[in-house]
Amino acid sequence: VTIMKFNQQLEQLLKTLSQFTDAEGELLKQNVKHSAEKFDPELIKLLLNDPDSKAHFFDEIDTATIFNYRKFIDYIDDKNFLIDSYTKFSNKVGLTLSNKHIQQINEVVLSFPFKDCVLEGGQSKDDEKRKEIFFNEVLAKDEINRLLNKKVITSAKKYTQNGVNDEVNFNRNENGLIKDNLIIKGNNLLALHTLKSNFAGKVKLIYIDPPYNTGNDSFNYNDNFNHSTWLTFMKNRLEVARDLLSEDGVIFVQCDDNEQAYLKVLMDEIFERDNFISCISWKRKKEISNDTKNISVQGEYILSFAKTKTTQLFLEQLSSSYIKKSYKEPNKEFPLGKWRPVPLTVSKGLSGGGYKYEITNPNGKKHSRLWALPERSYKKLFLEKSVYFGIDGNGIPQKIMYVKDSKGQPTTNYWDNTSTNKEGKKEFLNLFDDNNIFSNPKPEKLLQRIIHIATKKGDLVLDYHLGSGTTCAVAHKMGRQYIGIEQMDYIEDIAVKRMQKVIGTTVKKDGELLESLDFDSGGISKSV
Ligand SMILES: C[S@@+](CC[C@H](N)C(=O)[O-])C[C@H]1O[C@@H](n2cnc3c(N)ncnc32)[C@H](O)[C@@H]1O
Repeated sequence: VTIMKFNQQLEQLLKTLSQFTDAEGELLKQNVKHSAEKFDPELIKLLLNDPDSKAHFFDEIDTATIFNYRKFIDYIDDKNFLIDSYTKFSNKVGLTLSNKHIQQINEVVLSFPFKDCVLEGGQSKDDEKRKEIFFNEVLAKDEINRLLNKKVITSAKKYTQNGVNDEVNFNRNENGLIKDNLIIKGNNLLALHTLKSNFAGKVKLIYIDPPYNTGNDSFNYNDNFNHSTWLTFMKNRLEVARDLLSEDGVIFVQCDDNEQAYLKVLMDEIFERDNFISCISWKRKKEISNDTKNISVQGEYILSFAKTKTTQLFLEQLSSSYIKKSYKEPNKEFPLGKWRPVPLTVSKGLSGGGYKYEITNPNGKKHSRLWALPERSYKKLFLEKSVYFGIDGNGIPQKIMYVKDSKGQPTTNYWDNTSTNKEGKKEFLNLFDDNNIFSNPKPEKLLQRIIHIATKKGDLVLDYHLGSGTTCAVAHKMGRQYIGIEQMDYIEDIAVKRMQKVIGTTVKKDGELLESLDFDSGGISKSV
């Protein structure tokens, strides 16, 4: 046989096995190669039974016939075999995500070294710089399973207002769900997988403030992950975090501009782009650093994603600065509290709708316009003394809104007045006298704002980068159930001690205070 003929003959022969062809009947070269590498009996039988193929790809040694798989693969790989394969297979070539071609699922994904790995990333002391092992999803399946298998939680203690107790029986609800608050010491990857059996689908809010990967080792924990290692570390944990979220749950992840863009794409991939809520800019410091080379960084970011579309964040109470700016003091005409006028006319942008009639102000001035409500409703408002006619009585009639009747307003993605790192430090000093034992605790007001918009009383809040314990302290004061995870030894001296102080205060009073945006930071006195 000539080479050309043999090419065609082999192609036809291989196509007789369905696993080697695609839907259009074209040969899948990769599948053939994989079969050859595995010495797949079906393929070998097929070749053996074809005399030309047998002659090409088998060696006779004594009485044995041996498949020369190297020769076979080289032949298949040769550019003369399936000369048109590059065009024929154009829609088979490309990146894959979870075994599907990205081209088919239309996703933009973030690719980085070790993406297919699990990184244990555990340590308990500041100075331990671990040499990390990357466990490949395929190659190290056993090791990964062992790593992520449910672990036993040991040495539990129960802290109550009456003191510490070593005998722990968890309080559970009628469905067996643990209702106690938990502070867990340990590697968060292992702890999260362990929590899955009890809390999968139960967490309403996850807030984390992970190491930012600034490359700055002055942090007390290991913040020196390099870029792709950091992304692997985040991915491993976010994937299990997602399993813990309830259907209407939300996650808020704090970061700075070192990783914000990458983290957004990674989270798009894990939580899906459609579930992105917003990227909040938080002003972490008021001062501009004059010694900055180019741009002084005053802000950082909080990326928020919903687990599913069912999430509805809660409104915020009107802030005192907004009330001060936008509301008028009570007076004789409107004595029921601070108030502001809102237009009754139909705004220009609105197409259709509106009621046309003439209103006569009490001083006789007439206004004929398109109004947002029918004349009957207007008259009712007027009788309720809820209409404002301007300082001189000539103004276009407007409706009165009292502060006390406001249901609040949606939050924004620009938080320029929600405490700063300096306030976080001050609160910490108020608790511990020593500023040096923990860098950059978040201010309580920041957590209060997040917990307020994302949860209601009794909901479960999780922070698996607990640090100094801000999330749990605020959740406790706001009457939420909470779980905090931190692996460093300092958890005992910082987060646990902090929680003991919080438990010792009159929580109910503080809880109510903290629901308002106007609470004074802290809410815990160190004398308790
Ligand atoms: C920026 S701090 C969080 C500060 C916190 N928001 C506060 O207000 O105090 C990040 C924390 O994550 C912890 N951490 C880092 N990797 C961890 C891991 N694999 N398991 C558990 N905790 C980890 C660090 O030890 C550190 O305390």
